[in-house]
Amino acid sequence: MAQLKTTFAGIQLENPVIVSSSGLTDSAEKIKALEAAGAGAVVLKSVFEEQIGAESGHIQDSGLGADDYLQAYVRSHALNGHVSLVKEAKEGCSIPVIASINCYSDSEWVDFAGIMEEAGADALELNLLALQTSRNYEYGSFERRHVDILRHVKKVVRIPVIFKLGANLTNPVALADQLYANGAAGVVLFNRFFQPDIRTDSLTFAQTNVMSNPCELADRIRWTAIASAEVPQLDYAVSGGVHGGQGIVKSVLAGASAVEVCSVIYQRGNGVIGEMKEELSGWMDEHGYASLAEFKGKMNAWSTGDVNPFERTQFMKYYGSYGE
Ligand SMILES: Cc1cc2nc3c(=O)[nH]c(=O)nc-3n(C[C@H](O)[C@H](O)[C@H](O)COP(=O)(O)O)c2cc1C
Repeated sequence: MAQLKTTFAGIQLENPVIVSSSGLTDSAEKIKALEAAGAGAVVLKSVFEEQIGAESGHIQDSGLGADDYLQAYVRSHALNGHVSLVKEAKEGCSIPVIASINCYSDSEWVDFAGIMEEAGADALELNLLALQTSRNYEYGSFERRHVDILRHVKKVVRIPVIFKLGANLTNPVALADQLYANGAAGVVLFNRFFQPDIRTDSLTFAQTNVMSNPCELADRIRWTAIASAEVPQLDYAVSGGVHGGQGIVKSVLAGASAVEVCSVIYQRGNGVIGEMKEELSGWMDEHGYASLAEFKGKMNAWSTGDVNPFERTQFMKYYGSYGE
């Protein structure tokens, strides 16, 4: 029987299926159920910088000089909920619990990272998902912000720090290299953006594609295959479009140590975790692999020979023959 153990960001996991940050991981009960269903680890629902800021920032000036105190109180109250979640999850489960912060500035999150570590989180996932839309955007500043946040967080925590990147970076490989140089233990490729749509009947805005589609996996495979070849010292997890055991196999072949999954669990329930693991171990048995390490990175960008399909961008050949 194939061995599914893996190491991601320096943490030992019984298997590579990490339930990613989402509403699936926002309570200790849900996390216990995910552990019972066979998850290898969980990433808790993110603490959003805007959310904490908004909860404490909406306090009106009372004129009594107590507003700073009140803001600090509300902020700490909002944070306490997340601290309790870490503590309860750690008390009730034995799988690793990764705390998640969605941040875009690098000030108070440093304190919060320390608080999460103290609460018992096994690792911290930083998630800097933001579109750069300013006309005055200075090229490279978004990437620098990742590194600045990481450096500040690394000054206060000892637990492994993982960076979950957005898919909108010009060169995730160079950023992964910078993150590794500044102490990151792992990188997740990639987070997904909220996708706005327009209703043509009512001319209002809607959201579309809240859940991912298996087609989204290809782009993750591309970048994992390139980044894991170029910056092999980092651990990688694929997130986005892993909807079955084959998705895990492809991710590991590309160089990932784990996958972070959520849409398929929303759609099919916790039982899908066991099915994915069975499909993975079935494939391993069929191909004679006893452990993930035996095929991890076997199909990365260094395995491709002279023509690297991962760096190909044009369709010329396919356009020419498509439909013939
Ligand atoms: C309903 C929902 C809520 C999510 N909330 C978060 C979140 O709080 N923090 C985060 O980093 N990612 C969040 N995500 C993104 C997922 O963690 C995951 O990276 C993404 O959906 C791709 O994985 P999938 O294809 O398995 O869904 C959320 C996704 C969904 C569908």
